[in-house]
Amino acid sequence: MRTVVDMRTHVGSVPLPNPVLTASGTAGHGAELGSYVDLAALGAVVVKSLSVLPWPGNPAPRVHETPAGMLNSVGLQGPGVGAWLAHELPALNDRGTRVVASIWGRSAEEYAQAAGMLAGAPGVVAVEVNVSCPNLEDRGRMFAHSAHATALAVAASTASGLPLWVKLSPNVPDIVDIAGAALDAGAETLVLVNTVLGMAIDVRRRTYRLGSAAAGGGLSGPAIRPVAVRAVHDCRVAFPDVGIVGVGGVCRGVDAVEMMLAGADAVEVGTATFRDPRAPARVLAGLRRWCRLHDVGDVRHLVGAVQGAPMALAGADPGSASPRPSGSPHEAAPTPPPTATWSTPPPVPPAATGPQRPRPGPVTRPEVPSRIPPMPPPPPRRRPGTPEGDLG
Ligand SMILES: Cc1cc2nc3c(=O)[nH]c(=O)nc-3n(C[C@H](O)[C@H](O)[C@H](O)COP(=O)(O)O)c2cc1C
Repeated sequence: MRTVVDMRTHVGSVPLPNPVLTASGTAGHGAELGSYVDLAALGAVVVKSLSVLPWPGNPAPRVHETPAGMLNSVGLQGPGVGAWLAHELPALNDRGTRVVASIWGRSAEEYAQAAGMLAGAPGVVAVEVNVSCPNLEDRGRMFAHSAHATALAVAASTASGLPLWVKLSPNVPDIVDIAGAALDAGAETLVLVNTVLGMAIDVRRRTYRLGSAAAGGGLSGPAIRPVAVRAVHDCRVAFPDVGIVGVGGVCRGVDAVEMMLAGADAVEVGTATFRDPRAPARVLAGLRRWCRLHDVGDVRHLVGAVQGAPMALAGADPGSASPRPSGSPHEAAPTPPPTATWSTPPPVPPAATGPQRPRPGPVTRPEVPSRIPPMPPPPPRRRPGTPEGDLG
């Protein structure tokens, strides 16, 4: 059994001391979890998504427990970027936390404004672009549900000048297509996935369980872990050289191992934190213990190391921004230490605005003949601004 495991990793161009982060919306806006967890000991803290202005969110009830998970319709309540910079970020900075600022908007312009306000924010190592929100310029359709709109939101967010992570929705026919558009628009890292659209009904009262009523909510927790693992895997096959963060149902160290074997460079812990606020630290300790027990000396050797994967992931791309160690997953050779320090954001590359990254070949998927009859015309779209299900 190993006594020392190198837990350091890179997510895109961002060096982190370990691959366990909090998930947006489940660890507060600031240092709320700091009474339970040493925030500086985590890879990073991803804060709840912020918009350019304060936003009230949805009516209560906003959460409902489900088998192996929960539904939420919080509706992106938040203080706005300005108030967050003034009142929440300093407490995170005081604790030496690496911060990933999550943003959302109702138009490309709102993304640009929110991102621009984050330029130069102390301790912010990356911006996570949450595209699971309604686009007022497209009749309230979710940005995340359209490759074009996702690309617009990402391109607008380059205004921060920080490394861009894009958080994608699993509620799409082909997440690889959306991911490709986001990468072409300037994202360097994919965060997979946001919540799965869901709904619960109180059968006795015949009412919706959530205050968002007919708009439903977003399902999270262990119930969606296979959805997240699949999304991570398919995107890793398609994009061997980009940063990937897996999120969805990670509750234990072994869940993080599964996500990393599928191709994630790091994981975010969300719903598990509602049951146990120490969950992110517990997952980190469990991941380290698993590596020790299984003779994995460098946690990065796990990334994409699932047996029989249709890609050679470890060390696949010499030009990778997210260097994975070469050789077998269990190779004993020590990894040279990263050159950057953990607390300092890395130099920011110039923002990419157009197609620049060579696209890999398409993922091969089995063709399944459809036995479903032709669909009737789609129902009218939701009104702009109406809360949607995967708004956290
Ligand atoms: C109560 C709640 C609020 C959330 N708020 C946000 C949010 O503001 N922004 C975001 O990108 N994701 C949000 N999410 C989604 C989580 O970050 C995560 O993607 C999802 O819950 C799956 O991970 P989990 O199963 O570990 O919770 C929220 C999830 C929950 C449960």
